[in-house]
Amino acid sequence: MDLKDFLQQEDFILKCQWGISMMNAKLQMINAELSMRYGRKVIHSYSNRIKSYDSIAAKLRRKGLAENAEEMEKHVNDVVGVRAVCTYTDDLYRIAEMLCAQRDIRLFKKKDYIRNPKKSGYRSLHLIFQVPVSFQEEVRWIKIEVQLRTGAMDYWAGLDYQLQYKKENREAKNIGKELKAYANAIEQIDSKVLELRKRIEAI
Ligand code: GTP
Ligand code: MG
Repeated sequence: MDLKDFLQQEDFILKCQWGISMMNAKLQMINAELSMRYGRKVIHSYSNRIKSYDSIAAKLRRKGLAENAEEMEKHVNDVVGVRAVCTYTDDLYRIAEMLCAQRDIRLFKKKDYIRNPKKSGYRSLHLIFQVPVSFQEEVRWIKIEVQLRTGAMDYWAGLDYQLQYKKENREAKNIGKELKAYANAIEQIDSKVLELRKRIEAI
């Protein structure tokens, strides 16, 4: 079936949305548990998206793969994406651990771009899970990419993303260099802020 038609099928969209709801419910429960334990809000914002046809097609092309549903399901892990933004880096790892401990979903892949930032300077913790979706008497395991990041990582990635569409421009190149330098500054601020929180907790 044509990829565009596949993506527009009602049952495909329904399964993706169900996967998002399930992951959101898990994140909200983890947030409630951690907020109760630590007496502070842990996850500050949630977002999610289903990748557009254009982005999926571009990614398949980039990887030299055919533009069809089978290749997409096999090789594109971020068709469904959920993001949670926290203040502190240690919370990100705690949330990741708690998600991995859940027995009804399977961890497919983990990419730690916090300990190993990308060349661009990008930092975030990515976990790709397979989640079961029951529909019409069958269970399909769909992949969901969960991105966990701090507020600082999030605004950095937002600017970097905006720049990607303007790469050819000379001013954009200068901004890109500056932004890259701020990736390091942000990393230091994130770790200092965490240190301060721990010192305050110890008082
Ligand atoms: P490959 O790159 O082919 O390995 O697969 P992938 O793109 O699915 O994995 P990757 O972990 O590189 O990226 C997944 C998602 O992370 C992207 O869709 C973006 O949301 C985000 N991301 C990765 N790298 C960057 C970056 O350099 N800048 C920004 N702003 N976001 C990034
Ligand atoms: Mg990539």
